[in-house]
Amino acid sequence: MINGTSSPLLSVDFDYVRQMMFDYSSVVLEAGKEYLVEARLLSIVQEREMNSLGELVEALRKKSSNKLRQEVVEAMLTNETSFFRDVKPFESIREFVLPDLISKRSAERTLNIWCAACSGGQEIYSFLMLIKEYFPILEGWKLKVIASDLSLRMLEKAKRGIYSQLEVNRGLPAAYLVKYFEKVGLEWEIHENFRKSIEFLSVNLGSSWPALPVMDLILMRNVMIYFDVKTKKRVLNQAAELMNSDGYLFLGGVESTINLADQFEIVSWKQSSCYRPNRV
Ligand SMILES: C[S@@+](CC[C@H](N)C(=O)[O-])C[C@H]1O[C@@H](n2cnc3c(N)ncnc32)[C@H](O)[C@@H]1O
Repeated sequence: MINGTSSPLLSVDFDYVRQMMFDYSSVVLEAGKEYLVEARLLSIVQEREMNSLGELVEALRKKSSNKLRQEVVEAMLTNETSFFRDVKPFESIREFVLPDLISKRSAERTLNIWCAACSGGQEIYSFLMLIKEYFPILEGWKLKVIASDLSLRMLEKAKRGIYSQLEVNRGLPAAYLVKYFEKVGLEWEIHENFRKSIEFLSVNLGSSWPALPVMDLILMRNVMIYFDVKTKKRVLNQAAELMNSDGYLFLGGVESTINLADQFEIVSWKQSSCYRPNRV
């Protein structure tokens, strides 16, 4: 039981939320995660002046509750992220992946990049700051940069590009903060040219994807951990089909394609790994 509600989450209600999460986001809520549902949905119960989680689930069961369902799914998604998260992948992008792609695309001078679960935007802005710092050569190129997420709330945050002091303290070098952000009240707003260079899309990775350009680089980090094996295989299969054969796929530190997708080979650079389709 949680403060502010009069009854604990019944197992039938937990099962309902689990199934709904799976149906709408492919995210698997494991058994025993009742506490997570309680913690994440409490604010919705309170904002809507409901008496219990049971009342919230009852409202979800009604067919006309699309808005509420969206709100609940969003609240249950884990949006944890930070600037230059894990550092090493960004080093391998700087030292190895981009130099390789730049040399291979020097005739066309185009690159297509997709950040496939962008959360609040820190990951894709980190990538663009890295380009700005280290690859002035790309200024004359046609860069298509797409950032997507299932969460409309996170997409909105990413589009706004405004971050709290706490958020910019996590991973963002002070020099970049000074160079690429403006102080707006107590928060920090990334320069407009970064925001304008990204196309933001709502994409559910667990469903069929919209038409997207063939990608040279996909960042799909720390999202597959929430999926079951069947969904991971489907997602990786779609990623392989979407990529140029010499493109690169980055997954989170605890994610891999091993035993899931033999269309990829592992590419290691110093202490970091990424994946490349193994069709030549
Ligand atoms: C833990 S964050 C990772 C953010 C970022 N990629 C990083 O590594 O820091 C996971 C993100 O995946 C998104 N997500 C969860 N399920 C999704 C789905 N089925 N399709 C697209 N995005 C999803 C969440 O909304 C969240 O923003």
